[in-house]
Amino acid sequence: MSNETLANLAHEDRRFEPPKELAEHANVTAAAYDEADADPEAFWAKAAERISWDTKWDRVLDWDNPPFAKWFVGGKLNAAYNCVDRHVEAGNGDRVAFHWVGEPADDTRDITYAQLKDQVSQAANTLIELGVKTGDRVAIYMPMIPETVVAMLACARLGAPHTVVFGGFSSSALRDRIQDCDAHVVITSDGGYRRGAPAALKPAVDEAVAQCPGVEHVLVVRRTGEDVTWDDQRDVWWHDTVEKASTDHTPEAFDAEHPLYVMYTSGTTGKPKGILHTTGGYLVGTSWTHWAVFDLKPETDVYWTAADIGWVTGHSYIVYGPLANGATSVMYEGTPDTPHKGRWWEIVAKYKVTTLYCAPTAIRTFMKWGRDIPAEHDLSSLRLLGSVGEPINPEAYIWYRDQIGGGKTPVMDTWWQTETGMHMISPLPGVTAGKPGSAMKAIPGVSVDVVDDDGESVGNGNGGYLVVTKPWPAMLRTIWGDDERFKETYWERYAAKGYYFAGDGAKLDDDGDIWVLGRVDDVMNVSGHRLSTTEIESALVSHPKVAEAAVVGATDEQSGQAINAFVILRESALKGGEEAPDALITELRNHVASEIGAIAKPKSILVVPELPKTRSGKIMRRLLRDVAEHRDVGDVTTLADSSVMDQIQEGVGKGS
Ligand code: WT7
Repeated sequence: MSNETLANLAHEDRRFEPPKELAEHANVTAAAYDEADADPEAFWAKAAERISWDTKWDRVLDWDNPPFAKWFVGGKLNAAYNCVDRHVEAGNGDRVAFHWVGEPADDTRDITYAQLKDQVSQAANTLIELGVKTGDRVAIYMPMIPETVVAMLACARLGAPHTVVFGGFSSSALRDRIQDCDAHVVITSDGGYRRGAPAALKPAVDEAVAQCPGVEHVLVVRRTGEDVTWDDQRDVWWHDTVEKASTDHTPEAFDAEHPLYVMYTSGTTGKPKGILHTTGGYLVGTSWTHWAVFDLKPETDVYWTAADIGWVTGHSYIVYGPLANGATSVMYEGTPDTPHKGRWWEIVAKYKVTTLYCAPTAIRTFMKWGRDIPAEHDLSSLRLLGSVGEPINPEAYIWYRDQIGGGKTPVMDTWWQTETGMHMISPLPGVTAGKPGSAMKAIPGVSVDVVDDDGESVGNGNGGYLVVTKPWPAMLRTIWGDDERFKETYWERYAAKGYYFAGDGAKLDDDGDIWVLGRVDDVMNVSGHRLSTTEIESALVSHPKVAEAAVVGATDEQSGQAINAFVILRESALKGGEEAPDALITELRNHVASEIGAIAKPKSILVVPELPKTRSGKIMRRLLRDVAEHRDVGDVTTLADSSVMDQIQEGVGKGS
């Protein structure tokens, strides 16, 4: 957190009161804060009444063995039943669950709750045929198509935790995740549409699965119709199996703490962490926050989370939260500029979207494209906007509110994480007078603080580390297969206080409102996607020409942070002089893309003779960040060799 940022924030004094009409009919009023403060467990118990239990819990929270929480102990429920069947049973089977919009023009499908129930049951029956049993893990590697939701819910229905791997990840990333959670079945498709053309997925699965002997079956949806290679023993088509299966399937009730899914996310080491979410608390937390923060009115709202299902945002606020609430959602397959830059706004106008939830990086892109583009479309249906994934800068907040929301929509800046599962800090639309750039305060039932190194509150007007001070229902339960890493990563730092360490820096303003300033660890946030510096460094050094690499996230106007890499080449790579540096840089960038995924491609790669290291050998990324952000390099006295920074800066000067 630079002083410049803090100074800017201090000057922000615009406030936006909730619209009167919204406040009058809001799902949640200011009383919720008092109620939750008085008795958080009673508050969550009441929220839990919003979903349907086969057996009611006998204890709201078991925190006897921290940091291993159990919520709604003794309760039994089925997540898929809650998301689908119960709405049909309540007479809402004809309500649209998804207005699905494919990327190619006019490629749309509306899916009602009744249809979704049939499809989920069919997929569940097929998974049983393929040998999936309660507790087995199933990997899902899919584009943004309805079958992805069906696949997730079919797993949930069987109590088989899914692990959805973002379709933009490479085959090696997919392989690592399949191996880490030992999945025996993979659900995928031939491909999806991206930027106007089919983008294949099945070849990456073939490659990954070749190194995963445990995988017995690959269930494949036909989406693009492109040719795929086929293994008769292993591969089955969705249309040959799921679409022919029985639509009858009786959901079984599972323990509230039964694993629902594992979502991999980047940590400070090279190995991604499998964040485990369980059933009861997660469903309570996501459905309550979706209803409260977005003031969801299921009968009249058309809700749209414009994110990929491969991230936690998609899990909590495309699938579980909205469906548990019986919402009607939009789901869009493609990119915002296909076939033209007004695609999102065309969709908003067509489906009369009332609530849009997206990332600041998207908003900044739209700002760059200009306000004339959204102005061509009727966006008057919008009544609420949301932002997630990174701090939203005040300019983007104002633009979003004015140009997209017509100056009348509150903007919910929601802070949360893969680990938290649900919104933690956010305004409430009918209560909070929003400040552009501030996520404001913890939602009712959640307790956060900003603390110093000793875990003491910093108090208003000061900056420090963001912590969660009490357990919350959708909290991660552990890191898959690694309880130790779970304790170490999140709980050790403030063990004396029992606080959850979020890894973000934050500031409390004079009113006590929270300004999240970004990561304080080696985790980067690029266009709202979380990447670890070490993961990219490992990818770079796995290239035969690279001896050593250091990666930093540098502030970037467009993507929030941009990946800047510094590499030392192996001797052999320098010999002969036959290789143009540009070609080598491209080769390295592509190598990272194939190791992790295109989102991890460094924006710049600088070849350096040495890296700045302390005497104990730790790379001083802070200094490299100074270089990448074109600042004067800070204190170099702790470097083993202080001339290293001069050499690196010489290289920058040459513009290599
Ligand atoms: C990290 C979590 C939450 C789903 C998408 C990202 C940053 C998230 C905000 C916000 C400032 C934010 C934090 C956090 N972040 N939302 N509203 N304001 N920063 O989930 O990949 O687990 O990343 O994203 O740095 O720690 P994730």
